Amino acid sequence: MKRKQIETPIEKIFDQEKYIELIHNQLESERNSGKKGRSCFLTTYGCQMNEHDSEKLSSMIKAMGYTSALSEKDADLIIFNTCAVRENAELKVYGNLGALKQLKKKNPNLKIVVCGCMMQQPHIVEEIKKKYKHVDIIFGTHNLYTFPELLYKAMTENERVVDVWDIDGEVVEGLKSTRLFSVKAFVNIMYGCNNFCTYCIVPYTRGRERSREAVDIVNEIKELVKNGTKEVTLLGQNVNSYGKTLDNPVSFAELLKMVNDIDGLERIRFMTSHPKDISDDVIYAMRDLDKVCEFLHLPVQAGSTSLLKKMNRHYTKEQYLDIIEKARKEIPDIAFSTDIMIGFPGETEEDVEDTIDVCKRVRYDSAFTFIYSKRQGTPAAKYTDQIPEDVKHERFNRVLEVINEISGEVNKKYKGKTVEVLVEGTSKKNDEVLTGKTRQNKTVNFTGGSKDLVGQLVNVKITNPKSFSMDGELAN
Ligand code: 5AD
Ligand code: SF4
Repeated sequence: MKRKQIETPIEKIFDQEKYIELIHNQLESERNSGKKGRSCFLTTYGCQMNEHDSEKLSSMIKAMGYTSALSEKDADLIIFNTCAVRENAELKVYGNLGALKQLKKKNPNLKIVVCGCMMQQPHIVEEIKKKYKHVDIIFGTHNLYTFPELLYKAMTENERVVDVWDIDGEVVEGLKSTRLFSVKAFVNIMYGCNNFCTYCIVPYTRGRERSREAVDIVNEIKELVKNGTKEVTLLGQNVNSYGKTLDNPVSFAELLKMVNDIDGLERIRFMTSHPKDISDDVIYAMRDLDKVCEFLHLPVQAGSTSLLKKMNRHYTKEQYLDIIEKARKEIPDIAFSTDIMIGFPGETEEDVEDTIDVCKRVRYDSAFTFIYSKRQGTPAAKYTDQIPEDVKHERFNRVLEVINEISGEVNKKYKGKTVEVLVEGTSKKNDEVLTGKTRQNKTVNFTGGSKDLVGQLVNVKITNPKSFSMDGELAN
């Protein structure tokens, strides 16, 4: 089915601007009358998609005149952008919300907001409405851009505002107030997911797959570059099926070419790639386009073909390994990362051995490991062969040990080598140490430079490679 893309109706953009201005004016008049300004504390759970949604929220919050609070107890606006992928993250949100009740008593102006993926599940919204009466605003993933209006309503009408849309969300373009500018930036190229992996809640919380027009993506990146951005990460749940739903389909490889042609941009990354959809053209684009970094995040989830089938992943262990081999042949210095899930229903000892085997063959630069978590509404939640918690944990630790050992070994090959680093800032621990990433997405902390290198590409000689980062010295 082709989805018609709409521009945000002018009125809607105008509305967003209007409510931002109304709140801005109110906050300004409070400050002018001698009251202290209002501040906001935003907590984000989950994936890059959520992180990027939080950037958009931050940008709106800044435009409304809020400053950043150092902690929840100093804030006048507290926002939880939630994740529904695993139960742990959900439990944390409930715990944190419970703790805020007291703050509300101390600061009657305080507004508490919960948004994001958890809110797309009706049973959760009901739970929050019933048990957490101090929450002022609830909204979901599809109407992020209406936040200023919802906040204004909550401030002026002093009652709870709940606005969760159960449609797949139109692709909204033309919003001015949703961008913060920095050296690195995320750019959505598509929303939603059609894959329905049997363990995953995302297709239910983020809706069906829909792509942005290439021209809108390119224009957004040009604007970012004008404002100092050097690196973009193109975001989607399955970037390799980009463009299929557009009236005039554009392939992901073609999009990469268009982005590569943008003057002033230095680096392009993308995530997430699904092994069932990655095409040779994308591998060739990574090989041939100078700005596309030699880094591929390719979630395997499990090594066993029968488990992959039960997960509805549509590839076999061998097909996965073939993609890796092909990419490595075309792009010899490519780095790989992956997502691995341990404890999916029915997982046997042999299945775990298959996962370990894949790790040893691929030799991942890094891997994100997850313990399977039952998600209400997904097919796997109903499977009767769930794995006991203690078995899941034992297997998880075993796989993690292998992964960490491999990434430590993989990094050793960088000792003494000179690599290109995009400088992002100073190290958290030491002001005199600069930090940045290589094209292979490895964090490098290095000496010999000063703060004015932030935002620049520099050469760094690696002196001490470790499992999760590398130390070095400025080489030019
Ligand atoms: N339990 C554990 N991990 C999950 N993921 C997705 N759903 C679940 C779940 N129910 C993991 C997958 C995915 C990553 C973003 O989160 O590995 O690639
Ligand atoms: Fe979830 Fe699978 Fe879609 Fe990824 S591809 S978001 S794991 S359903």
